[in-house]
Amino acid sequence: MVDTDGGPDDKTAARGQTDDGRKAAPDATPPTESGAVSEGRVLKNRYLLERKIGAGGMGFVFRARDLEEERIAREQKHDESRQYLAIKILRPEARDYRGAVLEEVRRTRVLVHQNIVRAIDCQQDGELLFMTMEYLEGKTLNELLDEDYAQGMPWQLARSLVEGMGDGLAYAHKRGVIHCDFKPSNVFITSAFTAKILDFGIARAARGDRRRSETGTPVGITPRYASPEMIRAWQKNAMADYQPHCSDDIFALACVVFELLTGQHPFGDSVADAELARQRQLACPRVAGLSMRQNQALARAMAFDREQRTQRVEEFIQALVLDTSQANPRRFRLNWLAAAFAAVSVAVASTLFLNGPRQYIGNWFFKARTQSVSVPPPTAASPGGNRESPDLISFLGIERGLATSGGAQIEPDLRRLIQTAPRRVKLGSKYSEIREAIVLCEKYSRDCAVDRYADEQFREAELIPFEMDSGLVTVAQFRQFVEARSYRTGAEVRGFAYRNTGDTIAPVRNGSWRNAVTLERALDDWPVVAVDFKDAQAYCSWKGERLPTEDEWEYVARGPERQLFPWGNDISQAPPQLSGLPAAGSGVSEGIGGRYRDLSAVVWQWANTDHGAQGAGNEPVTGKVLKGGSWHQRNLADNRAAVRRYAPSDFPDDATGFRCAKSTVAWPDADLWVNHR
Ligand SMILES: Nc1ncnc2c1ncn2[C@@H]1O[C@H](COP(=O)(O)OP(=O)(O)OP(=O)(O)O)[C@@H](O)[C@H]1O
Ligand SMILES: [Mg+2]
Repeated sequence: MVDTDGGPDDKTAARGQTDDGRKAAPDATPPTESGAVSEGRVLKNRYLLERKIGAGGMGFVFRARDLEEERIAREQKHDESRQYLAIKILRPEARDYRGAVLEEVRRTRVLVHQNIVRAIDCQQDGELLFMTMEYLEGKTLNELLDEDYAQGMPWQLARSLVEGMGDGLAYAHKRGVIHCDFKPSNVFITSAFTAKILDFGIARAARGDRRRSETGTPVGITPRYASPEMIRAWQKNAMADYQPHCSDDIFALACVVFELLTGQHPFGDSVADAELARQRQLACPRVAGLSMRQNQALARAMAFDREQRTQRVEEFIQALVLDTSQANPRRFRLNWLAAAFAAVSVAVASTLFLNGPRQYIGNWFFKARTQSVSVPPPTAASPGGNRESPDLISFLGIERGLATSGGAQIEPDLRRLIQTAPRRVKLGSKYSEIREAIVLCEKYSRDCAVDRYADEQFREAELIPFEMDSGLVTVAQFRQFVEARSYRTGAEVRGFAYRNTGDTIAPVRNGSWRNAVTLERALDDWPVVAVDFKDAQAYCSWKGERLPTEDEWEYVARGPERQLFPWGNDISQAPPQLSGLPAAGSGVSEGIGGRYRDLSAVVWQWANTDHGAQGAGNEPVTGKVLKGGSWHQRNLADNRAAVRRYAPSDFPDDATGFRCAKSTVAWPDADLWVNHR
């Protein structure tokens, strides 16, 4: 350990953040003396601090709403979604170096890169100095490591993050900006699994002499990731004169990459900083699972002497990613090669031997997408036999051999497979279920013939990852498309659409999506109706999407439990019977995990599935399946998710609309599925 008389490794004071930059205490002392910064406060009459999301050495971070932007969006009748941003309220001492902070924000604002959080501004409200920036969804790399990858991430998974961090730093270096405080808590992994670097240059602004925050944390330096030359400058009280260099960031990046792959800091727990590691002649431990060349690249980037260290980030990243000869990337072990402390190192190494990747990756990861997986086009349903699949593995058609022994542990690779593998689902209705549906139907109608639901054949289908839009397409959304493409719907071309009461169908002259067929005009937030299959397809493809297949629609509505209705199995929970077309989104959230709205009882929805191909066979194959039931339906049995109706693809009526879907790399509902085990 280095001296503890106020050096950067001093761990005696209470902290808002540990020196290793890995964990920030959420309830650190408020950054103002008065504690006046709290949720609900509005800064500059514009930014509403909605929720505190973190605390670090330099201040508190809030998720905030930009009330001004929201007002403008409302006035211009854009969508009224909330305009979130992140606001970092700097600690009161920051006022002492306000000029430097403003200067750094000015320098970093020009950094526009997909791996760097977008800094917006630095402003002052009374005594408060605060920075506004893009709000990100996901978690910081230190949280990801602590919560999900305590023993490191396999190289294949880590690779895109390593490249992202490298790209972001290289981009900034080219523009003369050095990060100066690169560490896991300053890397954010978004829910799309992209690395974004936070807090560029701010640490540098905070530097003066040996500054410490009121919680005792050194300000402007994180000893565990600082280069030895930076540590020496800090120890000599010479930070104000220290000239940061790209290789400071490279040193920190190498430490972070090591940690990402092993879950451990290269110096272990007992060595506080790089200068001490240098004095003890520690060498960068080898990461088993990386090739010799990759390990050499890591060691060179972490060299204690700046002259020996890799000089350009690109060089480091290329050496890591271009060498694909690494041995077994799924197992990582640490080998300590600290020459001076060989004996101690062996003992340490034995405690650090990892048993392979952690059992539980965490729910969060299932929302992430890896970039390397290519997605085949969606397949139509493949009716199979009525095989019972007793567990997740066979459910998903994944080879049992891939699971670890006992089935209790699921390795990350298997998790990734689960995330991306085709999913075998059970849809339709068994004979007994059809009988029950007829009994239900008879509560509402005398017209419940035995073959009314005969085409709901029970089937097993194989789905590949997809996501469906959470809501129905509204009149306003459809209008945008019509205007952008000068599009005329089938009904508009022919001059009529149908009125469908559930019992009767009649043509209405000049009926179209613009007037919901029979009304004076269609309101913006109504689901669009009187669109035929081709209109619906044209809209979705304009959006870069497609229509869902029947299997996809039904799976979303029923989930792994095969529930009867999108809201569950309980008839008493049904949405109230409607007397007119409801606003889209006004219904309850339904379907898997409540992600979807208006699946049922609002409008029938086009599915890209031929009815004749799968149905009873009597109908024309040009007919397309409709799902969901409509506001006309008084018969709850017709609102079951298994119900299928069909219509010719050029049939527009006032009870039919649609929503779009798209193929994705990962399942949006993976958590639910895994919990369903
Ligand atoms: N742009 C953002 N979007 C969403 N969350 C953010 C954003 N910036 C920061 N956060 C959250 O706020 C937390 C605190 O960030 P902060 O930078 O204050 O802490 P730190 O990096 O641990 O410390 P410091 O950077 O001061 O040394 C982060 O851990 C992160 O969870
Ligand atoms: Mg930070």
